[in-house]
Amino acid sequence: MQVQAISNAEFAQFQRFIFDAAGISMADAKKALVMGRLGKRVAAHGLQSFGAYFKLLCSGQHPNEVQMAVDLLTTNETYFFREIKHFEFLRSLALEARSRPESFRVWSAASSSGEEAYSTAMVLADCMQTTAWDILGTDISTRVVESARRGLYSMERARHVPPEYLRRFCRKGSGTYDGMLLVNQALRQRVAFRHANLNAPLPELGRFDIVFLRNVMIYFNNDTKRAVVARVLDTVKPGGYFCVGHSESLNDITTAVRMVAPSIYQKPK
Ligand SMILES: C[S@@+](CC[C@H](N)C(=O)[O-])C[C@H]1O[C@@H](n2cnc3c(N)ncnc32)[C@H](O)[C@@H]1O
Repeated sequence: MQVQAISNAEFAQFQRFIFDAAGISMADAKKALVMGRLGKRVAAHGLQSFGAYFKLLCSGQHPNEVQMAVDLLTTNETYFFREIKHFEFLRSLALEARSRPESFRVWSAASSSGEEAYSTAMVLADCMQTTAWDILGTDISTRVVESARRGLYSMERARHVPPEYLRRFCRKGSGTYDGMLLVNQALRQRVAFRHANLNAPLPELGRFDIVFLRNVMIYFNNDTKRAVVARVLDTVKPGGYFCVGHSESLNDITTAVRMVAPSIYQKPK
């Protein structure tokens, strides 16, 4: 059955849908993206229009489909050791903390398929001595959370992993897995992944030495950014750190932290 092109009114419904679900402000220019990403779902339900699919999402009868639509409308682009300065900074913190009694905790707050959290784990596994450490990765998309737990990636995504880390922390695939890498089980066990929506009250996650909230605020308007940053900052230990993407900034968003380097902020002690 042929799916009709999305009308402006239908597109506005999906803009509202993803704003309510995730806080994502989708620009008018994203109409083709919505058609491309959701068109198959409209057809899979035997529907002819995006409006009918929107009704199905709102009916309360299809929670899995709602999650699938959220998964499809989020952008999950990421790779290992993206924005390397943050990992150099993490390394210096880890070296300072490597024998302290209190454990060292990191949160990758929009972890996508896990590359950011595993890059962090490689640095901590390399630097820590007696200090216990753990890493949490969360994302609103259950699809990427599942894929993060598997820890299986195409080599393409690992171009920036230092060769020594590749040898120590990853296994190269062969046969059907040719061109892939698997994060070692020992490292996978140090990283927990779970679903969490930053645009809603957070579950109890504990307190962190450093939180990465990178390349997700670009999708939020200023009010959403303020609410998300306040929520996330609550989880940073006094004196702890908060990293945003290099193209993001906390200007006009919060005065509760001070910038210590571009895109790296510290909460007062
Ligand atoms: C572009 S990726 C960034 C991944 C990684 N932090 C990085 O910098 O490479 C953005 C991620 O934010 C997630 N996301 C979007 N809105 C969210 C929300 N309200 N709560 C939690 N995660 C969200 C998306 O699902 C996506 O995986």
